[in-house]
Amino acid sequence: MRILVIGSGGREHALTWKLRESLSMEEIYCAPGNPGITQEGECLPVDVSQPQVILELARQIKADLTVIGPEAPLVTGVVDEFEKEGLWIVGPTKAAARLEGSKIFAKQFMQRQGIPTGRFVVADSFDAAVKALAGFGLPVVVKADGLAAGKGVVVAKTREEAERALDEFVRQKTLGRAGERVVIEECLTGEEVSFIVLTDGQSVVPLVPTQDHKAVFDNDQGPNTGGMGAYSDDSILDERTRDIILSKIVVPTLAGMAAEGNPFRCFLYFGLMMTAEGAKVLEYNVRLGDPEAQPILMRLRSDLVDLFKGIREGKLAAVEAHWSPNPSVCVVLASRGYPGKPEVGKVITGYEAAEALGGVKVFHAGTTFHERQLFTSGGRVLGVTATGADLAGAIERAYAAVGKIHFDGMHFRRDIGAKGLRRLTRAPERNNLPVRRVSGQCKI
Ligand code: AMP
Ligand code: GLY
Repeated sequence: MRILVIGSGGREHALTWKLRESLSMEEIYCAPGNPGITQEGECLPVDVSQPQVILELARQIKADLTVIGPEAPLVTGVVDEFEKEGLWIVGPTKAAARLEGSKIFAKQFMQRQGIPTGRFVVADSFDAAVKALAGFGLPVVVKADGLAAGKGVVVAKTREEAERALDEFVRQKTLGRAGERVVIEECLTGEEVSFIVLTDGQSVVPLVPTQDHKAVFDNDQGPNTGGMGAYSDDSILDERTRDIILSKIVVPTLAGMAAEGNPFRCFLYFGLMMTAEGAKVLEYNVRLGDPEAQPILMRLRSDLVDLFKGIREGKLAAVEAHWSPNPSVCVVLASRGYPGKPEVGKVITGYEAAEALGGVKVFHAGTTFHERQLFTSGGRVLGVTATGADLAGAIERAYAAVGKIHFDGMHFRRDIGAKGLRRLTRAPERNNLPVRRVSGQCKI
């Protein structure tokens, strides 16, 4: 089978790395890819921002299976284009991708379907939005409706900060049309969990749980980023909580989408806040998370193509997902300036020595290769991912690998996975949770 992966980040490196192991794989391509991905397959330097270009590329290389990493092509309808031609693609349709493409759609959908989420108001003018703020305490959350590459959410501590965000989004249109309409939302507190599932529309395979680290600095300080690291450990969710999330959030979401005529297939990411009243949905993403994909795929033992075949044939219930019991940790190395404007063009050293440690994989994101040297080319540069017999061991190994790597201005969080270690100290029995590591299927 000829496989094409679309995207150029750490998530796409992890997808290509995992798909390359598939028994069905004969040739694997990635567009546009990055220097790390060239170790796994052939990279094709194509601008993949238009669905038509992706379709043309898949035709040209005779791809049997196309896997989409990022949200933008899904929201603009690449899956519909492929399905019209009868070509196999992994992702939701344009109508289903609105769960991520429009925060207003997602919030109103949750309200209609009784899915637990924060209280909110939709506003389509600056004045209406400012008026709506009066109905909320502080902090308050301001969200642009459309895709904003992680820049569309502000958790405002003061009314002035909220008004400034509204002024930028709605009046100055700093995010273009994405910020013309906004959601004002109550601020929820608790621990965040990234809960991602695979679905064929009839049954659900939950992936192992992960926790992202969105803020740029240790202890969740500083502005939000695309994600500074993530880890996966069974102790993140006990089985009872996981079952409640499945029955109160995941199944109602998928059943609701189907009932409204927009059946959802493939990866669906539930960004959850574990509040004192239980799990509530912060956001949906219609894809794997980045960096969550790295620790998740490191733990996956099953053949990913078999899971994708299950989705295509509507027979996911018959496919088992097997997971390694060992936790995994991904530490993102970022450029000076990120999440603002990153400094790029710095020489990267030590990444080979890092991988030589064993149990470590260095996933590339913002890198470029030039005259036999690796340089930085973006904000998030590398995702150093390690596995270990326990969470402490995985963390130790990931940071030992990080210690081998250097580039000018490199910064990273030193507390990836620390929340997990604190949880295990508070509740050591979680170290041996009786988690179903095979399948964990449930019906919609
Ligand atoms: P989103 O793009 O909706 O995922 O939001 C990005 C991040 O903003 C989330 O991961 C949370 O850290 C934060 N966030 C979003 N909505 C809320 C909320 N209602 N309460 C608290 N934090 C939130
Ligand atoms: N790590 C969060 C995301 O992929 O949106």
